[in-house]
Amino acid sequence: LPGLRNQAAMAQRKYRTRDGETITIRGAAVEDVPRLLQIWQKTADEGKYIATERVGEDFRGRLEGRVADRDTLVAVAEHRGMIVGSLTLYQYYGNLNKTKRVYSLGMVVLKGYRSIGIGSSLMDYAIRWARHKGIRKLSLEVFSTNEAATHLYRKFGFEVEGTRKGQFQIAGRYVDEVIMGLFLSARPRHQATGRGETLGRRAARTGRRPGPGI
Ligand SMILES: CC(C)(COP(=O)(O)OP(=O)(O)OC[C@H]1O[C@@H](n2cnc3c(N)ncnc32)[C@H](O)[C@@H]1OP(=O)(O)O)[C@@H](O)C(=O)NCCC(=O)NCCS
Repeated sequence: LPGLRNQAAMAQRKYRTRDGETITIRGAAVEDVPRLLQIWQKTADEGKYIATERVGEDFRGRLEGRVADRDTLVAVAEHRGMIVGSLTLYQYYGNLNKTKRVYSLGMVVLKGYRSIGIGSSLMDYAIRWARHKGIRKLSLEVFSTNEAATHLYRKFGFEVEGTRKGQFQIAGRYVDEVIMGLFLSARPRHQATGRGETLGRRAARTGRRPGPGI
């Protein structure tokens, strides 16, 4: 994203948890990676919140790349000097120009630290960063059974955009994958409805000839 400042340009921010503790949200440094891997692995081990199962070498490589990448956010939440949560924003399809300003979101808060506002603090920080970067849209996927996460996303304005039915199997049950999105800049005026107007019809309506196509 040309002309935009990097992650380090955004200072750390202090937030207060519901039980009156102060937490700090800041961009991650490479030294934080081992602790971040632990948090993700612990959450993966709970088995029901995230698709990831093994936080292996590929995960480490991706995370290290993201920490170093100024167009990606890896935010950490620190509570009494310990990292207890993290949120990552990264370009949805990697480096495609077509989705350059659409970012994907992933987040975890360590068990034992949930429901006291740490996730909300991470989200507030991330949305500030995303606005600062000129990001147009945040996208995420969440299991239909994940009530706390869904509640948090809705609270910040994310809307359901679609559902993949029975996409996952968790503890012997089929679970839907819910796709959610949050527009940070103006929502596109003509959203696909599934019954899109053909170019020929549009030409008839507007009197303009169809362009060269997409
Ligand atoms: C989702 C997650 C990151 C949220 O972080 P958090 O620190 O718990 O978030 P907060 O405390 O700021 O907010 C949680 C909200 O969910 C609510 N909540 C908690 N459990 C809930 C439940 N079972 N049903 C409905 N709402 C619930 C809380 O009351 C709070 O809402 P409020 O701010 O309106 O009171 C955290 O729960 C987590 O790490 N879960 C496991 C990993 C995960 O699910 N990651 C996201 C995958 S898409």
